[in-house]
Amino acid sequence: MNARDRLVVALDVPTPEEAAALVERLAGVVGMFKVGSQLFGAAGPELVRALVARGEKVFLDLKYHDIPNTVAGAVSAACRLGVSLVDVHALGGRAMMEAAAGAMPAMGTRLLAVTVLTSHDVGSLAEVGLADDVTSLVRRLALLAYAAEVDGVVASPQEVPLIREACGKDFLVVTPGIRPAGARADDQARAATPAAALKAGADLLVVGRPIIEAADPAASARAILREMEGAA
Ligand code: C5P
Repeated sequence: MNARDRLVVALDVPTPEEAAALVERLAGVVGMFKVGSQLFGAAGPELVRALVARGEKVFLDLKYHDIPNTVAGAVSAACRLGVSLVDVHALGGRAMMEAAAGAMPAMGTRLLAVTVLTSHDVGSLAEVGLADDVTSLVRRLALLAYAAEVDGVVASPQEVPLIREACGKDFLVVTPGIRPAGARADDQARAATPAAALKAGADLLVVGRPIIEAADPAASARAILREMEGAA
């Protein structure tokens, strides 16, 4: 896979117009667009359908976490939109992930499970009663997702090696929390550079603010692609 196909841009903007402007500038430069809850709430499935219709790959990142029956229905609806990737929270548990995996078509959309949000650290996990250290929890949740026949996980670049070791080379590992050297961390607690994430074995890198808030988003994406190519 070339660098472009591995770069996913998070369209974390409040309006469909801003999303469309970003897509105009970034189509052909990056491999996939991620639609999360902010944009989905503003623009809905129509925007997702429009992206798919113009030939773009879409990661619908709504991180479902509900009872198994509801999540299976949500995942089915996402697949019918023609997206390439859809995700659930691994913390929803084995039965929920199995129901989601069972609702996937044989081909096309792939299912990911979010292990531990890249904004969490050991303190914020303890606050919600999760006493494991971050790496043990990520390992546990990745193995649970693997056992539930989910296609891969969303995790911090720092955890890729342990996921690869636990779940093998064919398990898809998608990493947000990517920050080029010198960029602001924002709310990402467990970040890494694009080159470090690739070297660690990530399949796809998700980048939001370092690209979408840049004065020239395409130039920022190209700089990240150059760094990714250098790491290959
Ligand atoms: O702007 P930034 O590069 O931090 O954006 C990262 C994107 O990845 C956001 O859209 C965020 O919702 C998403 N994400 C994340 N951590 C996860 C799963 C998804 O940051 N564990």
